[in-house]
Amino acid sequence: MTAKLNVVPFVSVDSMMKLVLTVGVEKFLTELAGYIEEDFLRWESFDKTPRIASHSSEGVIELMPTSDGKMYGFKYVNGHPKNTREGLQTVTAFGVLADVGSGYPMLLTEMTILTALRTGATSALAAKYLAPEGARTMAIIGNGAQSEFQALAFKSLLGIDKLRLYDLDGSASRKCAKNLAGMGFDITICSSGHEAVEGAEIITTVTADKQYATILTDNMVGSGVHINAVGGDCPGKTELHRDILLRSDIFVEYPPQTRIEGEIQQLAADHPVTELWQVMTDKAAGRKDAKQITLFDSVGFATEDFSALRYVRDQLRATGLYEELDLLADPDEPRDLFGMLLRAEQAVAKPQMAT
Ligand SMILES: NC(=O)c1ccc[n+]([C@@H]2O[C@H](COP(=O)([O-])OP(=O)(O)OC[C@H]3O[C@@H](n4cnc5c(N)ncnc54)[C@H](O)[C@@H]3O)[C@@H](O)[C@H]2O)c1
Repeated sequence: MTAKLNVVPFVSVDSMMKLVLTVGVEKFLTELAGYIEEDFLRWESFDKTPRIASHSSEGVIELMPTSDGKMYGFKYVNGHPKNTREGLQTVTAFGVLADVGSGYPMLLTEMTILTALRTGATSALAAKYLAPEGARTMAIIGNGAQSEFQALAFKSLLGIDKLRLYDLDGSASRKCAKNLAGMGFDITICSSGHEAVEGAEIITTVTADKQYATILTDNMVGSGVHINAVGGDCPGKTELHRDILLRSDIFVEYPPQTRIEGEIQQLAADHPVTELWQVMTDKAAGRKDAKQITLFDSVGFATEDFSALRYVRDQLRATGLYEELDLLADPDEPRDLFGMLLRAEQAVAKPQMAT
C-alpha cells in the first residue's frame, strides 16, 4: 500500500465486487463476522453515539461515527424506500477510516455492498448466540437488495440450508431464488408471510416501507423461534406487531439508538432489553431454553461499519484492489498551503502561454 499519507486508498464499487469475489462471498462474510465479533468483545473501548439522522418525507440520510481511540470511522448512508420504483437503491453508502493520531484518512470506500455484507454478518453473528440450536430453516420476508446477503451469512455461520421466501412483489422473491440457485439452499417461494414462517426456526424480516408496518402478527410467531428484525430501523418505521415484542426477549446493539429507531420504539422507554455485547462477553444470557422467543432488534450500529472498514483495509495489501486517491493537500511546507495554490496556478498558466 502507498506510504504517502496524502494519497488515500480508495475502494470503488468495481474493486469491492472484485474483492468480494476474490475472497469468496461466504469466506468474506465469515471473516467479516469475526471482525465484528472482535469489536463487540471490546465494546467498552469505543466512542459511541446514536447515529445522526436527517429525515425527510421520502427517507433519511445518516452519519454513523465511532472511534476506538486509534482509528476513527464513519459511514454515510441513506434509506429511501421509494427509490426502487425510480430504478435507484433503497440504501447506498460510503465510508472513511482515519488515523486518530494524525487525523488523516486511511481509507475511502464504497459501502453499499459492504453494508449488505456487514448487515448479514451481524444478523448471523447475533443468531449464533440466540437462535435455537440446530436451526436449518429460515423465512426471509422482504426479498430485496439485502436478502441474498442475509441468506448466505446464515448459511456460512449457522448452516441454514432451507429458505422460505416471501415478498409483496413476487418478482423480488424470484430474483432472490434465482441469485441463490446452486449455492446449497433448498428454496421455497411462498405466497404470504403466514406461509413463509411455517416450520421456520428463524424469521428474518427485511422489508422497506416508511411506516409502522405489520410484517409479522402475533399469531405468526410460535415458541422457540428466533426473529431477526432488520427492516425496522427508523422512527416511524417498524415491522413487528407490538404483542410479539411483549412475548420476546429482546437483544439490541446500542440501546440509545435502538430506542429511537428499532422495533422497541413501540415500547416504554424502560422496557428491558439485553445488549448483544453483554451476551458475547458472558455478562448476560442469550438463549436460555428451547421455548423462548428471541428477537434481534437490528438497526445497524457504527461499530459494525468500523469493523467492516478495518476488514477491507486489511485486504488491500494482498489483493491490490484499490486506487490511489489524491484526496489531501500536501504542500512542501505544511503552512504554505496558499503558496502551493500559487505554484499550481503558474503550472497551469505556463502551457497556456506556450500556445
Ligand atoms: N438493520 C440494519 O442494519 C439494516 C441495514 C441495511 C438495510 N436495512 C433496512 O432493510 C430494509 C430492506 O433494505 P433493502 O436494501 O433490501 O431494500 P429493498 O427496497 O431492496 O427491498 C425491500 C423489499 O421489501 C419488500 N416489501 C415491502 N413491504 C413489504 C411487505 N409489507 N411485505 C413483504 N415484502 C415487502 C419490497 O417489495 C422489496 O422487495 C430497509 O428498510 C433498510 O432500511 C437495515
